[in-house]
Amino acid sequence: MTNLIEAPPAATEQWRPLVAAVVDRLLDDLVRPGPPVDLVAGYTRLLPTTVITRILDIPGEDRERLWHWAEFGFATTERDPDDVTRAMKDFTAYTAQLVSTRRRDPGDDLLSTIVQATDREGDIPEHQLVHLLCGLLVAGQETSATALANAVFYLLTERPDAWRRIGADETAAALATERLLHSIPLGINPERPGSLLRTAEDVELGGVTIPAGDIVAADRTAASQDPHVFPPHSLSRLFTPLEAGTLAFGAGPHFCPGAWLARLQMQLALHRLAARLPNLHLTTPTTAITWRHGTSTRSPLHLPAAW
Ligand code: HEM
Repeated sequence: MTNLIEAPPAATEQWRPLVAAVVDRLLDDLVRPGPPVDLVAGYTRLLPTTVITRILDIPGEDRERLWHWAEFGFATTERDPDDVTRAMKDFTAYTAQLVSTRRRDPGDDLLSTIVQATDREGDIPEHQLVHLLCGLLVAGQETSATALANAVFYLLTERPDAWRRIGADETAAALATERLLHSIPLGINPERPGSLLRTAEDVELGGVTIPAGDIVAADRTAASQDPHVFPPHSLSRLFTPLEAGTLAFGAGPHFCPGAWLARLQMQLALHRLAARLPNLHLTTPTTAITWRHGTSTRSPLHLPAAW
């Protein structure tokens, strides 16, 4: 399998101080009023959107709008199609406006760098550039916030034994992050399992030939539990390296470009939350937690907690 990245690229490591500063700032704000707090509203939901707006140098006050568009684009199953079309039109116009502003007045942010690189390249259509940036703006919010909230829920409810180690040791937090990302699916949609992909060429799989041009539902969650590759009860080995590269971020030409940023965010978020609040616990029984069900993601709506 190609495109399974083995080590964080330097480009991601350069964001470490920024991500760490955002995590610390959010933790200060979370802890200041004292318990109880909602870890979703005050931490897991804020982190990815704050990080991406800082990296792309988008005004902080635009964060709620980006969430709104992310929710229309990816998350909720019960949206009126006309509302979705309108939201996507507004989002595209917003992003196109950002492109033209940065083209006129570039900064040293990632958005300006991408616009300048595209212009140097010359033959990349404007709508493709806007589409890419729309993806960067929202594809990481829903996914990263979901993965982090689900991980915190799992650790606080099922693995309080692991919490102090994650807080004490950043390497342990990194190992746990990889396993949590791999083992806890972002969501399950029983009506439409997997991602719909089109075969670019004839593919032979398990003695069956899938002809080029066919649509297939590739279920990464099932592949991630293949017992020939990953022994069962993966989460019981939270602090040992994964047995093989994870498919949590896909594979091939559309491999998630935010994979290492997502890992970095989650690792620092878990490590620093556990270090700051080693006695963190939920203040409500797990059966009282309500869940948000999106088209492809599922996560707790609230995580009331104290320390
Ligand atoms: C836990 C967090 C995340 C998970 C689990 C995740 C997972 C994925 C997956 C499975 C894909 C599809 C890959 C494929 O089709 O083979 C994808 C694509 C993508 N992701 Fe992520 N992602 C995460 C975070 C992020 C972040 C932080 C960003 C950006 C800052 C991002 C940006 C994108 C974009 C732009 C694509 C589309 C790539 C393309 O179509 O070529 N993702 N992601």
